Amino acid sequence: MNLPEIIETRRAYVHLKGIKITRESITQLIKAAQLAPSCFNNQPWRYVFVTKKEKLQELHEAYSRGNDWAQKASLVIAVYTKEDLDCIVKTRKYYLFDTGLATGFIILQATEMGLVAHPIAGFSPKKVKRILSIPEDMDVIALVIVGKHDDSVEEEPRPERKKIDQIAEIV
Ligand SMILES: Cc1cc2nc3c(=O)[nH]c(=O)nc-3n(C[C@H](O)[C@H](O)[C@H](O)COP(=O)(O)O)c2cc1C
Repeated sequence: MNLPEIIETRRAYVHLKGIKITRESITQLIKAAQLAPSCFNNQPWRYVFVTKKEKLQELHEAYSRGNDWAQKASLVIAVYTKEDLDCIVKTRKYYLFDTGLATGFIILQATEMGLVAHPIAGFSPKKVKRILSIPEDMDVIALVIVGKHDDSVEEEPRPERKKIDQIAEIV
């Protein structure tokens, strides 16, 4: 797939089936994040890649109601960072921006590898920190739920997007 195809293919699907996630696949995903740009090259993103069955099961208790579908994940990527890992330019704090960029790279790489990579905000950061031993002073900002799309079940169509002129202007 070329980049426009990857961007078009990526969806936040909720019908997943199990797939074996290899060490090589995980390395490829981490490398995608490694090459993302960041303010002063600070690379404020941190991840835990969870593949162990027992840990994936423990994470079930951290999902918000409505995200039960995530229990089918073959891999969960916990995304975390903190403010002082990145630039603060006057009032502009870049840690969330840069971590989101790198995570976007991971999501596109996963899509290229034929996986669903669905980010969620609906979880308890407190429980995730406890289960994954993430330091208390870190902000767990998202989980990326990864699996194989179960295309035997029909998904909702892609939610409508704002019109081009609502999100951008060309001057
Ligand atoms: C930061 C963030 C948080 C999200 N949280 C959830 C969530 O808790 N549960 C969920 O099912 N989808 C969640 N999503 C997925 C969005 O709902 C989805 O990307 C959006 O509706 C657009 O659909 P599409 O990705 O299929 O194009 C989240 C996406 C992002 C980027």
